[in-house]
Amino acid sequence: MNAELLLMFTLGCDRAYLYAHPERELTTEEQSRYAAALTERGRGVPAQYITGHQEFWGMDLIVSPAVLIPRPETEHVIETVLAILTSDLRPQTLGNAALAGVRGPRSEVRIADVGTGSGCIALALAKELPNAEIHATDISTAALEIARANAARHQMEDRIQFHQTDLLAGLNIDFDFIVSNPPYVGESEEDQVQLEVRKFEPRKAVFAGPTGLEVIARLIPAARAALIPGGWLVMEISGTIAEAVRGLLAGWDEVQVVPDLQGIPRVARARKKSNR
Ligand SMILES: C[S@@+](CC[C@H](N)C(=O)[O-])C[C@H]1O[C@@H](n2cnc3c(N)ncnc32)[C@H](O)[C@@H]1O
Repeated sequence: MNAELLLMFTLGCDRAYLYAHPERELTTEEQSRYAAALTERGRGVPAQYITGHQEFWGMDLIVSPAVLIPRPETEHVIETVLAILTSDLRPQTLGNAALAGVRGPRSEVRIADVGTGSGCIALALAKELPNAEIHATDISTAALEIARANAARHQMEDRIQFHQTDLLAGLNIDFDFIVSNPPYVGESEEDQVQLEVRKFEPRKAVFAGPTGLEVIARLIPAARAALIPGGWLVMEISGTIAEAVRGLLAGWDEVQVVPDLQGIPRVARARKKSNR
């Protein structure tokens, strides 16, 4: 798979072309570029950092070592938000128009994506929710540059407002949803993390601190302060911290942990108590 992917990258072609032209020989220049890509991969550099691309929610995104490579399981965060919006559980201030793309009173769902990295979650939600007002934050300036480039690539630069800040600091906006794939790996579990991740993905994107809960423990109260009553927090988590996260969400309504396709607890959703 990797050899094929890197060959497609070297030749700037798709898989169909590779199989349709088995007779095609590489030029000397192509051979040396392919060899260089294979050497990098052999050193453990993830293929996505070599090609500079990763697909997420049907969109081709640019990635660099400044951002986490978007993972397929993070798509469950998007699915969870869309499922809430199409159910009776959506914040009551929002009408049906929030989904239909029709402007009306409070048809704009307000969403914050905390720790946007490549911008994958914010962009997927912008794609699905044409009326949504979307804010994306990251502590890393370099990550935000990639996220902005991805928004521009998909003609969504006007749809997302980017903020370089710690979690939600300084935003002063009432949100209907706060979504996040925060760093949640503990330094104590470092030896269980794939070597490629440890060596090449940004440390601040992966590790939260000694236990893995450090960022989430700050995000939960920050989200409660920034959400409207009845608004939702939707976070990616891991099986290791699922029970501790449930504990931190005591005092929220409708707490649920949704498993991924492998049955591993993956998305925690919780609703801020309404004023009733
Ligand atoms: C696990 S990555 C997720 C990136 C992207 N949302 C995704 O799902 O692929 C976590 C991101 O949170 C950012 N981050 C870490 N601590 C933060 C903080 N205190 N405030 C804002 N962003 C933070 C990191 O820079 C990184 O981009």
